[in-house]
Amino acid sequence: MSFDTSSAAFVDSFGRAVRYLRLSVTDRCDLRCTYCMAEKMKFLPRKDVLSVEEMLKLARIFVTRGTRKIRVTGGEPLVRSDMMDLFEGLAPWRACGDLDEITLTTNGTLLARYAEDLTRFGVRRVNVSLDTLDADRYRALTRLGNIQRVLDGIDAAREAGLRIRLNAVASRGAFEEEVDDLISFAHLRGMDLAIIEEMPLGQTGCDRGQSCLSNATLRKSLSQRWTLTPARNDSGGPAQVFQVAETGGKLGFISPISCNFCAACNRVRLSCTGRLFTCLGDEGSVDLRTPAQRSDADVIAAIRDALWQKPERHSFDQATISSPNLDRHMSVLGG
Ligand code: GTP
Ligand code: 5AD
Ligand code: SF4
Repeated sequence: MSFDTSSAAFVDSFGRAVRYLRLSVTDRCDLRCTYCMAEKMKFLPRKDVLSVEEMLKLARIFVTRGTRKIRVTGGEPLVRSDMMDLFEGLAPWRACGDLDEITLTTNGTLLARYAEDLTRFGVRRVNVSLDTLDADRYRALTRLGNIQRVLDGIDAAREAGLRIRLNAVASRGAFEEEVDDLISFAHLRGMDLAIIEEMPLGQTGCDRGQSCLSNATLRKSLSQRWTLTPARNDSGGPAQVFQVAETGGKLGFISPISCNFCAACNRVRLSCTGRLFTCLGDEGSVDLRTPAQRSDADVIAAIRDALWQKPERHSFDQATISSPNLDRHMSVLGG
C-alpha cells in the first residue's frame, strides 16, 4: 500500500494541472448520433457501473487536490434515474466554494423533466447537443430522436434560468447551409453556440472522411458573412471563442483536428466504470474503483501514476479520420 498525504494539485509530466473533471455517469443514451455511436451498440451491465456514492467519493479526491469544475457527461447523463442524487451530492461543494462550477453536457431530450432540479442543485449552465433545426435531419442524424423534445428541454432550461451553450458537430453539406440559422437561433435566445470538429472515435458505420468538416474552412466561410472578434473563453474548456457583432452572441470553435489545444489541457475523465482516462484521444486509462475500496491514498497514487503517463497531445489527425485508431466510441466518455 502507498501513502500520499500531500494535498498538492494533480499535475502531469508536462506541468499541466488538473482543474476540470469530466465525470461520465453512463455509457447509455436514448439516441444513436451517427458521428458518435453505431446503430447497434452493446452497453455495460449495470453492475459494472459506479454507484452515485462511489462517484462522489472519487470526485471528492480530485476536488481536494485542485479540481475546480465538474462536468457530468454520458452517454446521456439524464437517462440514469438517480442522477439528481449525484447533483444533490455535489451541490454543497459548490455552495461552500470548493468548486467553481458543476455542469453537464446533455442531448436535451430529458431536460424538460430535470431543468428545475438542476437549478436547485446549483447548476447554472448546461451544454446541449443540437446539430440541426430541421426535424427530419435531426431524426436522421440521431437515428432515433424527436427534435421537439430537445426544443422543449431548451425552453424549460431557459425558463429555469439556466444558461445554455448549444453544441453542434460540424459536417459537410446540409450543416454548412444551416449553420447561419443555428447561429441566429442560438443568439436570438441568448444562448452560445459551439461548433465541434468531428473526432475519429470508434466505428459508427458512417465514413467520417465524407462528413468531417474542418473548422478552419468553416470559420473562413463564416467570416465572410459574420463579424467575428476574438473573445475570452471563461469556461475552462477548449473552445476558441468569438463575439459575433451582428448578434451580440458568442460563437466557439472546438477544433481538435485543425487547431490542437492540448498544450492548455486542464482536464481528465472518469468513466462510469471508474477508469481514469487522462486524454480523450489516447487509450491510456487506470482503474480507480478497486483502489477506492482500499484507501484514498491508493487512489491518489494511481491518479499520480496515470498523470505521469498522460500524453502530450491526442492522437487524432486528418490522416486517421476515416479509420479511427481508437476503438472507443465517444459515448464511452461523453467527450
Ligand atoms: P465547457 O466546459 O463549457 O467549455 O465545455 P466543453 O467544450 O469542455 O465540453 P462539452 O462536453 O460541451 O464538449 C464539447 C466538445 O469538446 C466535445 O466534442 C468534446 O469531446 C470536446 N472536448 C472537450 N474537451 C476535450 C479535450 O480535452 N480534447 C478533445 N479532443 N476534445 C475535447
Ligand atoms: N466528434 C466530435 N464531437 C462528438 N460528439 C459526439 N461524438 C463526437 C465526435 N465523434 C459531441 C456530442 C456532444 C459532445 C459531448 O460531444 O455532440 O455535444
Ligand atoms: Fe447520445 Fe450524445 Fe452520443 Fe448523440 S452524441 S448518441 S446524444 S451520447
